[in-house]
Amino acid sequence: MEYFKLIADRFSVRKFTQEPIAEETLARILQAGMLAPTAKNIQPQRILVLNTCAALEKLDRCTACRFGAPCALLVCYDKDACWKRERFDNKPSGETDAAIVTTQMMLAATALGIGTTWVMHFDPAAVRREFALPASFEPAALLVMGHAAPDAKPSPMHTASAPAEQLIFRNKF
Ligand SMILES: Cc1cc2nc3c(=O)[nH]c(=O)nc-3n(C[C@H](O)[C@H](O)[C@H](O)COP(=O)(O)O)c2cc1C
Repeated sequence: MEYFKLIADRFSVRKFTQEPIAEETLARILQAGMLAPTAKNIQPQRILVLNTCAALEKLDRCTACRFGAPCALLVCYDKDACWKRERFDNKPSGETDAAIVTTQMMLAATALGIGTTWVMHFDPAAVRREFALPASFEPAALLVMGHAAPDAKPSPMHTASAPAEQLIFRNKF
């Protein structure tokens, strides 16, 4: 799909069929996450594939936002591995890296006909407990995904667009 059409057409899918995502499709989505740029190319992303009944049951104890998706990718970053802006304020790159990884996988999924919703509304403590994450893994984003139900529709939020003057500043600063 042409890129600008893809980003215009994508919307958060919150209703799915139970058809599993084909392994080859999932592999291509994950590859998009591996190709993402990260600070200093350190690649601190750690992506958990959750598509078994057991994993999805655990996930349901962490969030109400799975929306019945048959698969979810939990994007974590390794806080001990990610780059830090040491010379100035020590700000870590992990959240930014994880957001780019998640975005690339979200758009790759769209290009492959797979619906997604990016979910931040999860309990990080429950995620750590349910999936026994290593201490250095920070859960950053959850991408629930699957084949959109035939009647899946964009929410009204999809089209709510802030005015350009609120978002873009030309010759002001
Ligand atoms: C960082 C981030 C966190 C989000 N968290 C949630 C969430 O927890 N639950 C949910 O239903 N949607 C979540 N969304 C989806 C947004 O609500 C959605 O992208 C936005 O309303 C625009 O709609 P659209 O994706 O259909 O264009 C999140 C999106 C982003 C980028």
